[in-house]
Amino acid sequence: MRSFAGRDILSLKEFERNEFFHVFQVADRLEPIARERRNTDLLATKTLVTAFYQPSTRTRLAHEAAMLRLGGGVTGFSDAKMTRAGDFYQESIKDTVHMLEYYGDAIVMRHFQQGAPHEAARWASIPVINAGDGWGEHPTQVLTDLYTVYKEKGTLDGLSFVCIGDHRMRTMHSIGYALSQFDAEMVILGPEDMSPTEEFLGELDGLGTSYRVVDHIDEVIAEADVIYMEPVVQPDYTASRQEKQDDYGLTPANYQITADVMSRAKGDSIILHSLPRMDELLPEVDQLKHARYWQEAYNGVVMRMALLSLVLGAME
Ligand code: CP
Repeated sequence: MRSFAGRDILSLKEFERNEFFHVFQVADRLEPIARERRNTDLLATKTLVTAFYQPSTRTRLAHEAAMLRLGGGVTGFSDAKMTRAGDFYQESIKDTVHMLEYYGDAIVMRHFQQGAPHEAARWASIPVINAGDGWGEHPTQVLTDLYTVYKEKGTLDGLSFVCIGDHRMRTMHSIGYALSQFDAEMVILGPEDMSPTEEFLGELDGLGTSYRVVDHIDEVIAEADVIYMEPVVQPDYTASRQEKQDDYGLTPANYQITADVMSRAKGDSIILHSLPRMDELLPEVDQLKHARYWQEAYNGVVMRMALLSLVLGAME
């Protein structure tokens, strides 16, 4: 297996099966630190640089929390408009990253341009972690999600993942790539104008991901092991920021999870949603035995602890 030390985490396309399990093992070893709300000194000599060109609650703060739990430092920005990349100069990724690499030991970047973290990694002498790039990918989120499924089910094989929502979305891409490493099916459900692109489906064919497309949650709810959700009412992920419009629409019933829908689900099926949510996942579902999105949020810190300690060489 390739070493993680010094490695960029940009995509799950190149992640191998044993690498998923290795990351999960490291997460398991570090998890008690988060559970017991302890701070340690594993990364006491390291600093994480956060470069967020798009809004985030979970991804940025989970990386920061992970770094603090491991005794490291954090610097960076969450509003690119207050940097030279977001003002008159429109400083390039290349020049910005040549600065950031002197300020810390790893960079976690979210950007509205697909491929921006990959561009950063070309120029940075330190690891770059993709925290979401346009419609591209969201690898740390999907590692978190698969870790959550693995902890719950004890396997990632033999499972049906019903993926509901906007299939242009970066999490949908990362999970499609990741499932190629497992004997699992990706069931694709979403509005026609949010369908996966032919290019993406071609990539899934090339990678060997098993998938099929359906039209309504009622067709597949009884067979789902994992219900993997994204909104269909959501902003344009190629924009740096989008304010909420007055007429943003409602989620059609085909793509909505309610208590009534879950009454027809397998007893041990679980619901994941990386959040934030709109009306596709009603609060009434939070009380059901199937809801795992709060556990998923907690695991988000644990997974970032694992990834940071691996790429910074503190864990092998
Ligand atoms: N799940 C996720 O990426 O959330 P944020 O946009 O809040 O980081």
